Amino acid sequence: MDVQVAAARRCTIHEFDQTKLIKKEKLTAILEAGRLSSSVQDKDVWIFWVVDHREDLELLATVGKRRGKDTKHVALAPVTIALTAPQFGWASERLRLHYDLGQAAMSMQLSAASMEIGSCVAIVDDARVAAEVLKLKPNMVCPYLLTLGYPSRSLGTIPAPRRRPTSDVARWLRTK
Ligand SMILES: Cc1cc2nc3c(=O)[nH]c(=O)nc-3n(C[C@H](O)[C@H](O)[C@H](O)COP(=O)(O)O)c2cc1C
Repeated sequence: MDVQVAAARRCTIHEFDQTKLIKKEKLTAILEAGRLSSSVQDKDVWIFWVVDHREDLELLATVGKRRGKDTKHVALAPVTIALTAPQFGWASERLRLHYDLGQAAMSMQLSAASMEIGSCVAIVDDARVAAEVLKLKPNMVCPYLLTLGYPSRSLGTIPAPRRRPTSDVARWLRTK
């Protein structure tokens, strides 16, 4: 699928088809899209943990904001990729890391969408539980989860999310 089409089709999915698992080669392709994503100064510090054991998914489903409400979809999804990275001390380093993780997540979401696989990024609020589930080393953190699965409705039939028009979000500084 064309990148432009995947960008138009990508949307957050919370409800997944329980009967359809993601084949390993497709999951590998999604991870590859994340791996190839760019990072500030090419630092490439992330590790993407693939979580597909139901018990682990149920625990990860509790780590979101609003006492886990924002991650409850994780419990019923076939797979979640936990985006992990070193815990940086400097605020500027942390900002760059979040930009990098956002880029990697979007590359993976686009790759997923191109294969009709739905996704949802979620913020980890309870970092301690996430670290326990993932058995992270003490210097590592997991700020985001990327949940994947075939949507219960096909991506093309889901209404586009509300967006401001291009004329509002993109402006030409001056016209030639
Ligand atoms: C950084 C980030 C964090 C998000 N955190 C959550 C979350 O914790 N739980 C959730 O259900 N969705 C989360 N989302 C999904 C957004 O709510 C969603 O992207 C937004 O509503 C736009 O919808 P769309 O992705 O379909 O375009 C997050 C998205 C981003 C980019």
